[in-house]
Amino acid sequence: MTFRFPRVVGHRGASADAPENTLAAFRLAALQGAGAIELDAKLSRDGVPVVIHDATLERTTNGYGAVAAQDFVALDRLDAGTWFDHRFAREKLPTLRAVLELCAEVGLELNIEIKPCPGRAVETAQRVVEDVRRFWPGARPPPILSCFQAEGLEAARRIAPELPRGFLVDDLDGDWRSTARQLDCVALHVGHRALGERAIATVRAAGLQVLAWTVNDPARARALLEWGASAIITDRPAAIHAALA
Ligand code: G3P
Ligand code: MG
Repeated sequence: MTFRFPRVVGHRGASADAPENTLAAFRLAALQGAGAIELDAKLSRDGVPVVIHDATLERTTNGYGAVAAQDFVALDRLDAGTWFDHRFAREKLPTLRAVLELCAEVGLELNIEIKPCPGRAVETAQRVVEDVRRFWPGARPPPILSCFQAEGLEAARRIAPELPRGFLVDDLDGDWRSTARQLDCVALHVGHRALGERAIATVRAAGLQVLAWTVNDPARARALLEWGASAIITDRPAAIHAALA
């Protein structure tokens, strides 16, 4: 079956207007017209999938040190919103489960970026897949799993071949074609500066859809879609959605 994904994807939610990777940012993305969100999933020390970009807590929470050094009970006490604005002081570091349930509630589709803490790619993929199987309604289009590390996608393919996969790359300099083929990916998620009309045609000719990140300029988003990109991953879903209306 052909993979289809919404054109406007909130990068870590509506992360220009709310603290990234929080339920507030994901809800706002839906309100701003995103059809899907992207998030970053990693594991607490005791193996609970949580949603945070960095390997360490300092930038986006009031905690300290490595995410992988804390059990979930400690991560669950953190404030993940005040760093952005005191209005978001109640935002916590979400579990993947909470975001899966929110997506079902508000009708968002989902791109889960497997963003493992060092050395935990396989385990992270396993736990993410377990949560998707338990908490994502079977009737909805399944989340697409993406990862910069082939190891994470290989584990996902082995455990859950039915979930679509996208290989994440900064640019097109490496051997993306054979990696994506080996991992049986449906899409290549490419840093948008590497993309132009010919580059998009090249990726599509390899049988892969193009998801472009992170695009915050509406004119650029329009051009990428006209050239054949399938989706725009953006911090500013409102602006991109308005430009495409
Ligand atoms: O998934 C696209 C993008 O999120 C990859 O980079 O660093 O924002 O997770 P990063
Ligand atoms: Mg990401």
